[in-house]
Amino acid sequence: MAEFTPPRSFASNNLLDSNRSCSPSGQLRKECSSAEVSEKAAIALISRLATTLTLNSGYRMPAIGYGTYSNSDSPSVMGEAVYKAVQVGYRHFDCAEAYKNEAAIGMGLERSFRDGLVERSELFITSKVWQTNHDPEHVVAACRNTLSNLKLTHVDLYLIHWPLAWEYTNVDCEPLVPKDNDGNVIMSTSGCSLQDTWRAMEKLVDEGLVKSIGVSNFSSTQLADLVSYARIKPAVNQIECHPYLPQNNCRKFCAMNEISVVSYAPLGRPGNLHEGDPKMMEDETIARIATEKEISPAQVLLQWQIEKGLAAIPKSTSQVHMEENLLIQNVLDTNDINSLDALTTRHRFCNKKWCYGCLVFDD
Ligand SMILES: NC(=O)c1ccc[n+]([C@@H]2O[C@H](COP(=O)([O-])OP(=O)(O)OC[C@H]3O[C@@H](n4cnc5c(N)ncnc54)[C@H](OP(=O)(O)O)[C@@H]3O)[C@@H](O)[C@H]2O)c1
Repeated sequence: MAEFTPPRSFASNNLLDSNRSCSPSGQLRKECSSAEVSEKAAIALISRLATTLTLNSGYRMPAIGYGTYSNSDSPSVMGEAVYKAVQVGYRHFDCAEAYKNEAAIGMGLERSFRDGLVERSELFITSKVWQTNHDPEHVVAACRNTLSNLKLTHVDLYLIHWPLAWEYTNVDCEPLVPKDNDGNVIMSTSGCSLQDTWRAMEKLVDEGLVKSIGVSNFSSTQLADLVSYARIKPAVNQIECHPYLPQNNCRKFCAMNEISVVSYAPLGRPGNLHEGDPKMMEDETIARIATEKEISPAQVLLQWQIEKGLAAIPKSTSQVHMEENLLIQNVLDTNDINSLDALTTRHRFCNKKWCYGCLVFDD
């Protein structure tokens, strides 16, 4: 499959020419001139200026965001980490009701507003509706529940987390995975289609609860179907994407339809590996480029994302890693990118075979 690069006008980065920004230019100027801004925060700010994507809804999204899913850190640790991430310079946060930590993250965000670190209008906050809440009335209740937990009046982006519906449990998605006595996932019997769910998502925009809507883990085929009936086009498809799973087909389809791609697990989930998972950050080619360019393997992987016109949402609770991941310097050359594109290892780190009861992906 030939490599694909989206048109520059779509994955463009000119922050200052839009009046629908999540980070108004005036505010950025204020931040730039603040005497209290540390050198690291200033560099992070410059990084952010250079890497902001314009969604098809007209809103702007910082290309490097902060992932909030963790299977090892408690909700309170993630809430603290979000506060720290705001301090470090992150302005884009990826949340989900299924991560079961939105209330703690809401407290972290509230504290960052209270302490004057940032204003709500400067942040781009995403959340997602879980499979048990796909029925239209549950979509609305789930979104309101997320807003209440996050202590926000709107989110900037709301996604359908996975393209399949399970039996409703309750508004808190408890249990997260409804199972029968044999341990199989109980699929929804309500007759709710993805089209029904999308209509409810569109209504959330109409009601001002969310600014943009999108999907996650959708294939090109599922997107093609969605685009055929969508009144409001999906702004984003959030998928696993990195040099071991470059998603060339899906990225091409998304670019042709002006759907931005947000890459999850961009570092290959080093803290959550299962049997048979490769250690992508230790890949020889990635390590060689990192050494040659005097950057870290994580920075190599994140710069690959920027070069492809993608957004990425690495998770970290370590301040050193948070800062490292935000400082994307433009040091990879064409040979480096070609070397990364030539990698032949193919791996999906987040395949969810253990819980979905049916295979979502073909590989
Ligand atoms: N839509 C979906 O279905 C879906 C699925 C999975 C994930 N996501 C989203 O994507 C986000 C990111 O994915 P992920 O958390 O699975 O994987 P990831 O970001 O690829 O990897 C996170 C791991 O990398 C480590 N790390 C971070 N920066 C590092 C650095 N500079 N050097 C070395 N190690 C580093 C972190 O450890 P430390 O904390 O110790 O730094 C953590 O263990 C999630 O948090 C979530 O928001 C969405």
